[in-house]
Amino acid sequence: MRCRGVVAAIITLAAFSLNAQAQDVEAGKKKAEACVACHGPNGNSQVGTFPVLAGQSDRYLYLQLRDYKEGRRSNPIMSGIAAGMEKQDMKDLAAYFSKQKQERTGFKSEMPRVEAGAKKAEESLCAMCHLGGMKGQNEVPRLAGQHPDYIITQLKSFKARERTNDAGNMTSLAQTLSEEDMLNLAHWISNLH
Ligand code: HEC
Ligand code: HEC
Repeated sequence: MRCRGVVAAIITLAAFSLNAQAQDVEAGKKKAEACVACHGPNGNSQVGTFPVLAGQSDRYLYLQLRDYKEGRRSNPIMSGIAAGMEKQDMKDLAAYFSKQKQERTGFKSEMPRVEAGAKKAEESLCAMCHLGGMKGQNEVPRLAGQHPDYIITQLKSFKARERTNDAGNMTSLAQTLSEEDMLNLAHWISNLH
């Protein structure tokens, strides 16, 4: 009998958490209407300066919104937007965007740059953290298929120590990258899907 009680409790808990998760995505969908103008429908941004959010890691999205709000990452647009968010808003938005299907941006990578970028990525061990195919994991972002303009801006910003919310890994790595390396890496990354 006791055993059945435990099983029932586990089933109830599982149903509860499934329910809570579904609500997050639904609530996030509604809140995401405020993001469409820049990040595009479903987080598939069509402008190179606005990052694609569709298919990005849930955990990473949440942490970035929190960092903008708390001033660990700073951007004139996003800091203002995140300032008005509660923790639950960030969780709902992160859940929603992470569940959207990423589409191709339409950027045409130049093949010699793709090859040079792949070589540089191997030397720099990008896959050690971002995983093979740069698909990302937990707090390490997915890079595959991201806009090259955005990738380059972020690498420059890490190098210049303007973006410092990554516990130092990207900051020190970016010191080893020339502008040419960044361009090649961006062409390679954008070509992954
Ligand atoms: C007016 C344009 C604009 C709007 C509206 C906007 N964003 Fe952004 N967002 C940006 C820009 C520009 C960046 C890149 C900022 C940077 O370089 O730090 C960005 C970056 C982000 C990032 C970091 C992505 C990454 O890969 O690190 C997240 C997460 C994000 N936005 C979420 C949102 C959410 C959620 C909303 C809606 C509630 C929203 N944004 C609305 C312009 C916008
Ligand atoms: C030791 C782990 C590690 C390695 C190696 C690494 N990264 Fe990262 N990278 C991270 C983490 C963690 C973040 C997220 C930082 C944050 O939270 O702001 C990140 C963020 C980024 C971003 C910003 C993405 C966005 O959406 O804003 C880019 C671009 C990037 N890395 C490119 C690279 C490239 C290219 C390489 C190889 C040349 C590389 N990384 C190697 C850990 C790593």
